[in-house]
Amino acid sequence: MASVTSLSDSVQQHLASALSATLPDAAGADPLLRRSDRADFQANGILALAKKAKANPRELATQVVSQVVTGDVIEDVEVSGPGFLNITIADRAITGNLAARYADETGRLGVPTAAHPGTTVIDYAQPNVAKEMHVGHLRSAVIGDSVVQLLQFTGENVIRRHHIGDWGTQFGMLIQYLDEHPHELDHKAATEDAAASGEEAMSNLDRLYKAARRKFDSDDEFKTRARRRVVDLQAGEPHTLATWQRFVDESKIYFFSVFEKLDMEVQDADIVGESGYNDMLAETCRLLEESGVAVRSEGALCVFFDDIKGPEGNPVPLIVQKSDGGYGYAATDLSAIRDRVFNLKANTLLYVVDARQSLHFRMVFETARRAGWLNDDVNAVQLAFGTVLGKDGKPFKTREGETVRLVDLLDEAIDRASAVVREKAQDLSEQEIAERGTQVGIGAVKYADLSTSANRDYKFDLDQMVSLNGDTSVYLQYAYARIRSILRKAGETRPAAHPELELAPAERALGLHVDAFAETVTEAAAEHAPHKLAAYLYQLASLYTSFYDKCPVLKAETPAQVENRLFLCDVTARTLQQGMALLGIRTPEKL
Ligand code: ARG
Repeated sequence: MASVTSLSDSVQQHLASALSATLPDAAGADPLLRRSDRADFQANGILALAKKAKANPRELATQVVSQVVTGDVIEDVEVSGPGFLNITIADRAITGNLAARYADETGRLGVPTAAHPGTTVIDYAQPNVAKEMHVGHLRSAVIGDSVVQLLQFTGENVIRRHHIGDWGTQFGMLIQYLDEHPHELDHKAATEDAAASGEEAMSNLDRLYKAARRKFDSDDEFKTRARRRVVDLQAGEPHTLATWQRFVDESKIYFFSVFEKLDMEVQDADIVGESGYNDMLAETCRLLEESGVAVRSEGALCVFFDDIKGPEGNPVPLIVQKSDGGYGYAATDLSAIRDRVFNLKANTLLYVVDARQSLHFRMVFETARRAGWLNDDVNAVQLAFGTVLGKDGKPFKTREGETVRLVDLLDEAIDRASAVVREKAQDLSEQEIAERGTQVGIGAVKYADLSTSANRDYKFDLDQMVSLNGDTSVYLQYAYARIRSILRKAGETRPAAHPELELAPAERALGLHVDAFAETVTEAAAEHAPHKLAAYLYQLASLYTSFYDKCPVLKAETPAQVENRLFLCDVTARTLQQGMALLGIRTPEKL
């Protein structure tokens, strides 16, 4: 339940009582309240009600206005346009409400927790074994991590699944090659440094991958040996499995080093890759075939869809089992659905995966619905994200046309950010510059990803990302650091609010926006839409900037006003910090 109700909740209640007093039939109707530029709040719901009651909307609105209790929360309400209500909040209520939030020790800043939380299994940050991570994996990790934070903050029970690509025929050649060259994965020296061992792990894997591929393409006898290893792997032959495990372990060293660089927590227990569903595959196929959801077609087990056709109008099936008996990506995903629904008891299955896999998920979800594994109570959604583009607007590649290594990209972001921090640094040590540079650089990359809605493509432009002006995380981090510096200067740990004071327009605007944090977080979590929170935070920092320009804080007219403004600063800082944390971004105290 809400620890402290927000102003919009109070206004909503006031309007609801006024509505049912005017029009008893309208009890429970939605006044369609929203924050507005023209007034503090606007309610548009009377239009529809008037239509239903065959009444004149302006007249009805006027009657409702006469029933609204004013004085405590609502200062003034008037009819505007065809029958809208424009609502002005009392200054006292703005400050008082924020003060209640500020006093609330849960630190939830008014964000309610769900009364009946569900269980969401979220599939995100799923790189592939023995392969380099790229920008697509970055998006899944960054968006997924933020959605996890948002959902958990609103009380949802969240189970994370990192569905790594750790199975498939390509392992035959890798295993065979490693058996023939057993030292290829050895590390030169044991090191505590995660980044260095991650780097070494990946470079070993990469070298081995390329060498194995070369041999496979040029040596027919090796090819035969490699193919036999695929059969052994599928049969679970112990030595083959042990060699396969070496690839998985080595890759995890690398994955963990990248997640650490991304300042993101990933637990080993949550990494359940494709191989984790191997024992379910045969049963999944049996269930689908017995129920008639899947049918044999030219030896393969397929599911057909009326509305999914190839370019020549021929049906494109989802292949659950190939004619040679092999299982692929779809069988694994269908088995994972069974696991998540029946063992993990999920109500929502969320997949943070590239939009280019949307057809796959459409078919997989539809198959699972036909099988009865998904239904009205258990829903699956793909949070599909767009492509990361280079400055030229084409999919992001190196100048040589290769995929960009994620680690290189992150390092470059950190370098650029460190330069920005250094330029501005006043009293920071070298170590602090390095630390802040990392927080700013990683924050910049995350924010650029999270501030556009996930389904859109975006341009990866480091210059823009670390710019101090505009919609960037650095701008938000600076706003935060600036507030913290004022608070430090004031030496005040917990300034008191003074609800009796009249507020300047810039103070009102800031206070009302801080109040909107609760509904913003609730909405962003429910819609799996971190970009809504990002937009809110940017607006918050902008409103703070204008407040700071117009309203002297430490030099305000009276001691009470100084204190009230310090209080506004602090509640803004806390909101910024909590909001950024929900995006996975740090807010350094000094910049
Ligand atoms: N490993 C895949 C890739 O790199 C993403 C896996 C997505 N999750 C899933 N359940 N299919 O593209």
